[in-house]
Amino acid sequence: MSGVTIVGTGRYVPGAPVKNDALARVMETSDEWIQARTGIRQRYFARDGPGPSDLAVEAAKKALHDAGIEASDVDYIIFATMTPDHFFPGSGPLLGAKLGISGVPALDIRQQCAAMPYAFQLANGLVQSGAAETILLVGAEVHAGFMPWTDWDVVRSESDREVSAEAYQRATRHRGLAIIFGDGAGAMVLRKSQAPDGGFIGAELHSDGDSFDHLFVSGCGFRSIPYVTPEALVADEHIPQMRGPSLLKKAVRTLSKTAKSICETHGVSQDEIDCFIVHQANDRINRAVRQALGIPAEKMPSNIARYGNTSAATIGILTDELRRDGTIGEGDLLCFLALGAGLNWGAALLRL
Ligand code: UT7
Repeated sequence: MSGVTIVGTGRYVPGAPVKNDALARVMETSDEWIQARTGIRQRYFARDGPGPSDLAVEAAKKALHDAGIEASDVDYIIFATMTPDHFFPGSGPLLGAKLGISGVPALDIRQQCAAMPYAFQLANGLVQSGAAETILLVGAEVHAGFMPWTDWDVVRSESDREVSAEAYQRATRHRGLAIIFGDGAGAMVLRKSQAPDGGFIGAELHSDGDSFDHLFVSGCGFRSIPYVTPEALVADEHIPQMRGPSLLKKAVRTLSKTAKSICETHGVSQDEIDCFIVHQANDRINRAVRQALGIPAEKMPSNIARYGNTSAATIGILTDELRRDGTIGEGDLLCFLALGAGLNWGAALLRL
């Protein structure tokens, strides 16, 4: 039986790239450290105003054009983000309105960096059940809102003034987190594959709420009444806390294990997979997974140097790049792999 497949892709990043050197002006870090420890050279940040739904519109228009369809052909929207335009409602309906297709059902999903394997399973279920035919799946993030500085003119290289010692110390306290994230949007149009046995094959998904404290926002949630206070902001409780080294080890272990397991479940040998499209959180994670599984470098492409970690947008951005440069094409067997806050992680197999 055929499953959903990718019939169009698009990506969008806001403004000019922010190089590592620019971050080193607002906190204690360096281009050498960031490149050596993460593989990142630059990232993009949205300006104050446009939200993830605005970034998503740009990526979605390209994906619709690529698929050769109109927005009015979409009958379901899945919007993946951990940085929604508003605390509520979700960004999916906003995206629908901005594309001129209000009325179409729209779901937001909150699997953070692990969104895409979850979204493929969900999209496949919707199409197989007859609930949808043409799904617009978008991952979009504006992480700029939780960055630990206010000196945006310096970060954007619009000024070379010194930042205050207090601002520098504050940003340095969050440097592990601040250097990895960047903004962007990746969109895909999903429809049932026309090829016999083509499209989505299966997903293996996991979550572990016991480990939620590896990456989470401690404040600005409805455990507190009121849910946001001036004191919480002063204490930087709106900035995510991340146990970076432990998360890195967990990511290597779980992603390697899940990739092996999904292949076994579906009787696919690793060698048959044409491309592993893996979330880009840190190039060291992906290199270690590659080594653990014995996958050649060309089968696990990396674009983290150019974008940093764009959370739910990453796999859409990378997939779009790979389709457009011809690395992947019709008939290819793809394995998507991702882990993110929650913790959530998983893999999905799909034949293009
Ligand atoms: O997508 C969501 C999932 N997120 C992830 O998977 C993130 C996974 N974790 C990571 O990517 C890495 O743990 C980080 C990039 C966040 C940190 O790299 P690390 O190699 O694990 O460094 P570390 O936290 O163990 O720190 C090593 C040293 C420390 O200094 P001392 O104590 O050895 O003197 C840190 O204070 O590096 C220092 N350090 C930095 N130095 C310069 C930490 N961050 C920085 C920085 N610049 N940005």
